[in-house]
Amino acid sequence: MEYTTLGSTGMEVSRIALGCMSFGSSDWREWVLDEDESREIIERAIDLGINFFDTANMYSLGDSERVLGNVLADYDRDEQVVATKGFFQMDDDNPNSGGLSRKAIEQELANSLDRLGMETVDLYQTHRWDYDTPIEETLRALDDAVRRGQARYVGTSSMWAHQFADALATSERENLERFQTMQNHYNLLYREEEREMLPLCEREGVGVIPWSPLARGYLTRPHEAFDATTRGETDEHARNHPYFEGGGREINERVEELAADYGVTMAQISLAWLLHQDAVDAPIVGTTSVEHLEDAVEALEIDLSESDQAYLEEPYEPVLVSGHE
Ligand SMILES: NC(=O)c1ccc[n+]([C@@H]2O[C@H](COP(=O)([O-])OP(=O)(O)OC[C@H]3O[C@@H](n4cnc5c(N)ncnc54)[C@H](OP(=O)(O)O)[C@@H]3O)[C@@H](O)[C@H]2O)c1
Repeated sequence: MEYTTLGSTGMEVSRIALGCMSFGSSDWREWVLDEDESREIIERAIDLGINFFDTANMYSLGDSERVLGNVLADYDRDEQVVATKGFFQMDDDNPNSGGLSRKAIEQELANSLDRLGMETVDLYQTHRWDYDTPIEETLRALDDAVRRGQARYVGTSSMWAHQFADALATSERENLERFQTMQNHYNLLYREEEREMLPLCEREGVGVIPWSPLARGYLTRPHEAFDATTRGETDEHARNHPYFEGGGREINERVEELAADYGVTMAQISLAWLLHQDAVDAPIVGTTSVEHLEDAVEALEIDLSESDQAYLEEPYEPVLVSGHE
């Protein structure tokens, strides 16, 4: 396994992060694995040297955190980097179970720690921008969480670059913990982040940990076969993102072509491309099988030539912003 220093922190993380949205309960989404199957994948990830795990309170409405916490309880906590998130409303009847007010952050972080069975998470991330709470209130609540020892670092996820710049400037002005990471939507089929967000992250030394690096499966199999898996058939978000638009189909074909040339899988070519992007620290890979996880780790060994990177990039056409509002 390769490790990298996450953004401007001193913390070392594996270059592949394990996304835990696929773990928890199939009652939440048909394609989500229940505890026993999830355990097998998480344990194999640890065997392979992955030390970086990303979950969120909303994944399987808390069961993803529970499952991850149950598995990690059998290991040395010091060896793992655990990241979770809060923002989305957890209880339909309680408007304060979502958002980024001080009340919501204090409650939701405490609930996440409870489900994880941990006193501290290494990275606590805000899942989306809260248009109803001043950013200074959010940052003060996060700073207090760090002071209380409930989180070591704070990070955030998809938003506009101007909002992120505002948040970073507010932290600096008020001397508060700053967002150390940006978890954003970035893959070969969605590259809008290259305009503003990635240059901002590079300039500010912010760690970049992309979500849906494989376009929710569309970058792992030929266009015609997209519906071939349970997730492909039932994951409505895969269709809501603009993967099938612009040059999407042609990129999918070029990934398939290069996979054959290199003698590897499409998932490996797609991940290798992302791992070659300077701004990227660690893609957060979603997986529903041990074999796919092993594939992802092997992608670290692929040396994708510059001309092949350019070949994969060439058909891309700008698409509507997707992943945040
Ligand atoms: N911050 C946010 O707003 C946000 C949003 C989305 C996700 N996330 C995070 O990002 C993580 C990853 O997201 P994601 O699951 O959407 O990402 P993804 O890695 O783009 O897609 C995962 C899917 O790709 C397919 N796949 C993966 N490896 C494969 C392989 N080697 N061969 C063939 N198919 C393969 C699997 O599809 P099948 O199951 O169909 O085989 C898998 O379910 C999540 O777990 C979560 O932690 C964060």
